[in-house]
Amino acid sequence: MKPFKLGLLGYGKMGKALIDGLITQGFLDETNLFVYTPHSSPKAKSDHPGVNICLDSYEMCEKSDIILLAVKPQILPSVLRILRNHLKNKVIISIAAGITTENLVAMVEPSTQVIRVMPNLAVEVQEGVILLSKAHNLNHENLNICAVMFSKLGLVVLIDENKMDIGSVLIGSGPAFLAYFINAMKLGASGQFSDKETYRMLYHTITGTIAYLQENNMDPQDLIERVCSPNGSTIEGIQSLRDDGVENQIVHAVRQSEARAKALGKI
Ligand SMILES: NC(=O)c1ccc[n+]([C@@H]2O[C@H](COP(=O)([O-])OP(=O)(O)OC[C@H]3O[C@@H](n4cnc5c(N)ncnc54)[C@H](OP(=O)(O)O)[C@@H]3O)[C@@H](O)[C@H]2O)c1
Repeated sequence: MKPFKLGLLGYGKMGKALIDGLITQGFLDETNLFVYTPHSSPKAKSDHPGVNICLDSYEMCEKSDIILLAVKPQILPSVLRILRNHLKNKVIISIAAGITTENLVAMVEPSTQVIRVMPNLAVEVQEGVILLSKAHNLNHENLNICAVMFSKLGLVVLIDENKMDIGSVLIGSGPAFLAYFINAMKLGASGQFSDKETYRMLYHTITGTIAYLQENNMDPQDLIERVCSPNGSTIEGIQSLRDDGVENQIVHAVRQSEARAKALGKI
C-alpha cells in the first residue's frame, strides 16, 4: 500500500474513536495525521501528542492525501463548499449519516474521489462493522487503502449505495435493538441476580451463541429448533413470543428505522 497522509476534520466522538483505533492498532503513525477541529485540538494533542494540529481546514487539506470528514451532517455541505477547491485531487471519506455518495460527488470537484462510510459505535473497541459505499470515481488503489484502514476497526462490508439505509439500521441501530432485547431478558429475571451477575451471564450467552452459529454455519431458525426440546421450557417461551407477534414487531421496528433514515437523508 502506498504511504499516505490522513487529514481529519472534527475531533468529536466519531473522529476520536476512529483515530484512537487506527493509532492503537498501529495502522497510523501520529506524525502522518493532520487534524483541524475548531475547539477540540487541545484534547487531540493531549490524546496523541505526535499529531499535527492545523491552524485551519485549508492547511489540513493541503497537507493530506485522504481526508476523513467527521463533522455533523448538517454542516458538511457548507464545509464542502468552503473546501471545494482545496479538495481537488484528494480522497474524501464521509461518515455523515444520510448524505449519499451521489450528493457528496455533486458537492465536490470531479477530481475529488469520494467514499461514504458508515461505522457503528463498536469501532471504539475495534469490534465495529463498517459499511463502505464508493463513488464511481474512487480508484481501486484508494478503495483498497480505505478497506484496509477500516478493517483495523472491525468488519468491513462494501455495499451498494441504495442499501446504505437498511444496512445502517442493521449495523448502526442493531446494537440498540440487541441492547433492548438484553434489557428485556434482564427484566424477566429481575430480583433474582445482581445486575452484574445477569449481564455477565447474558453477555457470555450472546457471544457463545454467535460463536456456535458461526462455527456450525447454522441458521438461527435451526438453532431455535435445536434448543427447543418438545414440552420443554424453551419452547414455552418461544411460543409465547410467537403468540405475541414479537417477530412481526421487530420486522416493523427495523422498517420504521429504515424509513426514518431515508427521510433524514432527504432533509
Ligand atoms: N456518533 C456516532 O455513533 C456516529 C455513528 C456513525 C456516523 N456518525 C457520523 O459521524 C459524524 C460526527 O458525529 P459525532 O457524533 O462524532 O459528532 P460530534 O461529537 O458532535 O463531533 C463533531 C465535530 O465536528 C467538529 N466541527 C464542528 N464544526 C466544524 C467546522 N466548521 N469545521 C471543522 N470541524 C467542525 C467539532 O469540532 P470541535 O469539537 O473542535 O468544535 C466536533 O468535534 C456525523 O456526521 C455523524 O453522522 C456518528
